[in-house]
Parts: sequence; C-alpha cells; structure tokens
Amino acid sequence: MQVHENYSLQKYNTFGINVFAKYFSIFSSADELKELINEKASATKKILGGGSNILFTKDFNGFILKNEIPGIDLINENEEFVFIRAGAGVTWHSFVTFCVNNNFGGVENLSLIPGKVGASPMQNIGAYGVEIKDVFYELEAFHLKDKSIEKFTAQDCHFGYRDSVFKNKYKDQFAILSVTYRLKKNPDFNISYGAIGEELQKMKVEKLSIKAISDAVVSIRTSKLPDPTLIGNAGSFFKNPVVGKEKLDLLKEVLKDGKFPFYKNEEESYKIPAGWLIEQCGWKGYRKGDAGCYNKQALVLVNYGNATGKEIYNLSEEIKISVREKFDIELEREVNIL
Ligand code: EPU
Repeated sequence: MQVHENYSLQKYNTFGINVFAKYFSIFSSADELKELINEKASATKKILGGGSNILFTKDFNGFILKNEIPGIDLINENEEFVFIRAGAGVTWHSFVTFCVNNNFGGVENLSLIPGKVGASPMQNIGAYGVEIKDVFYELEAFHLKDKSIEKFTAQDCHFGYRDSVFKNKYKDQFAILSVTYRLKKNPDFNISYGAIGEELQKMKVEKLSIKAISDAVVSIRTSKLPDPTLIGNAGSFFKNPVVGKEKLDLLKEVLKDGKFPFYKNEEESYKIPAGWLIEQCGWKGYRKGDAGCYNKQALVLVNYGNATGKEIYNLSEEIKISVREKFDIELEREVNIL
C-alpha cells in the first residue's frame, strides 16, 4: 500500500472540492488497515468512504485512509430471510443492485443513494419511507486505537434519524469493515411515500416487484437530485428539522393559510421539510460564483465547478441565518464539515 504525500482529495469527495491531505492511502482489508494504522504515528487518522457526506473546507493536515474493502456474500439464510454481508468499501448502489437482481427485499427504496456500504449504518441512510436500521443485522468495526475488531448489533448502533453511535460517542474511533443486512425472501413492498406510487403509475407498472420499486426510486432521484459525477453535491445538506406541537401550531398561525408540508413522527413531534423552508426564504436556484442551492431541490447545495469548501459552507451559514430569522427554526447540517 502506497502512502501518498500532499495528495489531492478532489476525486474522493462528491462535492469535488480540491483540498489536499498530508498523507493518503487506500486499504482493502482489515489486515492492510492494521498495517497502515501504525504508520505516520503522530498524524491524525481519518477513514474515508465514498466521500459523499463530507465538505472539506481546508486541507487535511493528517492521514486519510480510504476504505475499499470489497465483497458481497450470502452468509446465512432461513425460511424468511437471507443474511448478506458486504464489505464497507462496496458501492452502496452495487449492493442494492445485487439484492434487486436476486429478489431480496428491503433496500430497493434506497436505490441510487451515493456512497459506500460502510457509511450506511454510520448515518442510518434513509429515503422513501425506509431506513437502514430496518434491514440492519450487525457490523464489524476496527477500533483505531485498540486495534481490535468489534461487533455491533442494531441496539449497539443507537440508530436515529440520520444518526448513530458512530456520529456521536464513537465519532472517528472506528473503521467499519463490513455490514450484514437481513433481507426478505418474500418481500413486503413499502410504497407509503407518495412519490413512489405516482411514479409507478406513470411507469404503468401493473404488478409490484422489487425491481419496479427500485426503477421508480431511480427515476425520482434522477429527476430531482443532481448526479454528483456531473454537479458536485452531497445530497441533503441539512436534516429536516423536528418541531413540537406548539411550534407547529404557531407556524400554522403565522403562515395564515396554514398550508405547508409536514410529517407526523411519534410522540407529538413533526418533521418539516428543510427544502421547503429554504425555498420559502428564496434560496432555491440561487448561485454565487460556483456555489449554489439546487434549482430542483433546495435542500441540496451544489458546486458548479470550482467552488471552495468555504464558499459552500458560507452559503449554508447564510441559509441557516435566514431560516432562523423567518421561521425561528434552527437547521442542523447533515453533511460532516472538515
Ligand atoms: N420541498 C419543497 N421545496 C424543495 C424541496 C422540497 O417545498 O426545494 C418540500 C415538498 O413539499 C416536498 C417535501 O419537501 O414534498 C419533501 O421533499 P423530498 O421528497 O424531496 O424529501 P426531503 O424531505 O427533502 C428527504 C431526505 C432525502 C431523501 C428524501 C426521500 C433528509 C434530510 N433528506 O428529503 O435524503 O432522499 O427525503 O425520502 O431527510 C439525503 O439524506 O442525502 C437525502 C437525499
């Protein structure tokens, strides 16, 4: 494994920000990681997956270790389920495609999400009514300091909305090596998210199938979300804020006709689409230099070419301020800022 010095990370983050890492290397197995971790002893180590949920605002003065552990294996099965273990470096959508092609149900709604398998539990990826916690079985992770391999069950991961123990208590302490998912042999389809039903109708699908749902999701995503290989972005930049009943009623009152989108969570809490709040503040389609707010989905900030991470970050700060001023709601970034 070669260790590069002063290495450009432009290819390794979907925002396409051109920053440099002091040291950079790639590992394809736990043993390779074990070896690398002993090098450049004093350098701060950071594990990188697909770089699809990160905004680099400056050069990284440490050692970036890119996880490319491969492999998709059926490790167990029973009447109802198959247990598939995927290497953390597998591209998420290749794993979804494997499941769709084999008619294993559970991840079809999560088609085309950028990034790698290893990031899926880290931020409990979710879309169109499904989250990774619904199909997660267990994972193996390498403790960067103790150099031990540990197993985590779903309970150990403390999954929340775009959240897990790896974003909080164990932030930057583990490298995820592999994730095992529990998928259904006889899938029950989840088309609770309105847009999927509409898309299936448009596609004139008569018989529901995993493949049809996956195709519908791919079609929705490609029509709304920018392809990171063409326009730099990291998907939703902010989380959808969750408010209580009182705040919701207040908003209804202030907005006169009370018409705005929200979803009820458990326990009298409500999720309001951040994209809607941002659009209401006039940012949708905004562009300053090469930093912008995407014209088809205001929750996505984009790099049209040569924006710096700082420019994107500053735009996100301006957006936060205007949402705070107009709605008294604090947006929280979903993307990791480095
Ligand atoms: N909306 C607007 N204007 C916009 C964007 C959205 O008014 O510019 C409103 C509309 O009312 C729309 C609603 O927001 O009906 C919801 O929009 P959308 O279906 O696009 O979903 P979202 O809440 O903006 C979330 C996830 C996405 C995921 C979609 C679909 C978060 C932070 N984002 O977005 O995840 O694909 O739902 O399930 O929860 C990601 O995390 O990177 C991501 C793309």
